Amino acid sequence: MTPREPEPHEKVLREHEDLRRVLAELRGLADRIVREPGGRDAPRALLDGVEALRSRLAAHFVHEEESGLPNGLADRLPHVADRADMLRGEHFFILEDLQSLVNEAHRSLLVGEELGVRARQVLLRIARHEERETSLIQQAFTSDIGGVD
Ligand SMILES: [Fe+2]
Repeated sequence: MTPREPEPHEKVLREHEDLRRVLAELRGLADRIVREPGGRDAPRALLDGVEALRSRLAAHFVHEEESGLPNGLADRLPHVADRADMLRGEHFFILEDLQSLVNEAHRSLLVGEELGVRARQVLLRIARHEERETSLIQQAFTSDIGGVD
């Protein structure tokens, strides 16, 4: 028997799991920079990781927006449609935040502890965004009584 093709919401949930791991790794680097602001390896690794994360998130957001998932959520849980719209609206700003972080670091406007602290804030914001999406998707698709909040 061939395994069935995962549903759009299942694919997105898997991506969220991967993203959680990547975000945790990058937060670990940001913490290290805050603890040892003089090091050179951690900032380089962090910025490479942030650039890779930005590309990955850009693709992830397009996937979420084109997967039919937002409509699926609104169909199953009409009262969360506004929350889903708000989360979708955050996508642009998340990519902007990551780009500014990289640009400012490359221009040496953001170094040492300040880089670590700012990266931590940006990464935390993304993690919270993805958690809120995960929770909406789980409410809509994986609850036994789907359709009830
Ligand atoms: Fe997401």
